[in-house]
Amino acid sequence: KTDKYILGIETSCDETAAAIVENGKDIISNVVASQIDSHKRFGGVVPEVASRHHVEQITVVLEEAFEQANMTWEKIDAIAVTEGPGLVGALLVGVNAGKALAFAKQKPLIGVHHIAGHIYANRFEREFEFPLLALIVSGGHTELVLMNGHGSYELVGETRDDAAGEAYDKVARMLELPYPGGPQIDQLAAEGEESIDFPKAWLENDSFDFSFSGLKSSVINTIHNASQRGESLSKEDIAASFQSSVVDVLTTKTWKAAQKYGAQQVIVAGGVAANQGLRKALAAKFGDTNIPLLIPSLNLCTDNAAMIAAAGFITYKQGKRSGWDLNANPSLML
Ligand code: KG4
Ligand code: ZN
Repeated sequence: KTDKYILGIETSCDETAAAIVENGKDIISNVVASQIDSHKRFGGVVPEVASRHHVEQITVVLEEAFEQANMTWEKIDAIAVTEGPGLVGALLVGVNAGKALAFAKQKPLIGVHHIAGHIYANRFEREFEFPLLALIVSGGHTELVLMNGHGSYELVGETRDDAAGEAYDKVARMLELPYPGGPQIDQLAAEGEESIDFPKAWLENDSFDFSFSGLKSSVINTIHNASQRGESLSKEDIAASFQSSVVDVLTTKTWKAAQKYGAQQVIVAGGVAANQGLRKALAAKFGDTNIPLLIPSLNLCTDNAAMIAAAGFITYKQGKRSGWDLNANPSLML
């Protein structure tokens, strides 16, 4: 047979996921068990709770992935699993499931970088053209990555402190919004006015790095000072003003990097790619240029295993395999 089927497994944070993907481009099944409800009352992901949920859910999502695909193990060509970065206890569940299955079913094993997965979530919708510039914005990452070919990643900029999603979640907590805060702020922002002048960290002139901790502190101080004066600011306006600072910096730096590196395509990946304000601003910036902009559909922006299978397919085609010493690596480099 010429068609290749990759089983993907993802357990790096708070979603237990399994998926089967054909030729790195077509989703045959995609199952995600979210733990959001279990972490909500703690206001964030509790690593120990996450690990325990993964243990409970992993066989369930794997079975469901095969059931949805109406497929048996014989057709599977390789198993791709997220090896890092992420929470070590969470990653270990997926890595060990992948290793055990690869051994039992005698299939090649492929370790995948979580961010490579987020990037390849875009390939379900359109073929890549290089050089390609990827903006990765998630709860743990804010990076600009240049790709000169499949599986080749060059870091051109990254956050020096908080990740974009982390800033969203922290500001949301200050506004007493439920976890995860990103979507909540996004919603409020649509109803507010950009009336508060929060800082934008442009850093050095030619830098593609990011910084969100100053913005975060400025939001804290603004809320604190207002309450000291006995005033209360509109949550909608805070959300809109905060979001406009984040979105302006992300959009402008992505635009400048695309010019500098002659990008043929710009893609956006990670949970914050679901942000309506960011999607709108990027679409406006790249809309009347000849650089195509790709943003995955909402369910493929957040963590899933189809993206891991898609990235793993490239590694598989390049003939690279992981050994039985594959291990969870919480700080794996791209
Ligand atoms: O990629 P992801 O699912 O997990 C990580 O790998 O981190 O990203 C989760 C992050 C969270 O910080 C969440 O608040 C943020 O993405 N997020 C959003 C939106 N949807 C999810 N941030 C802003 N606006 C959104 N609509
Ligand atoms: Zn992610």
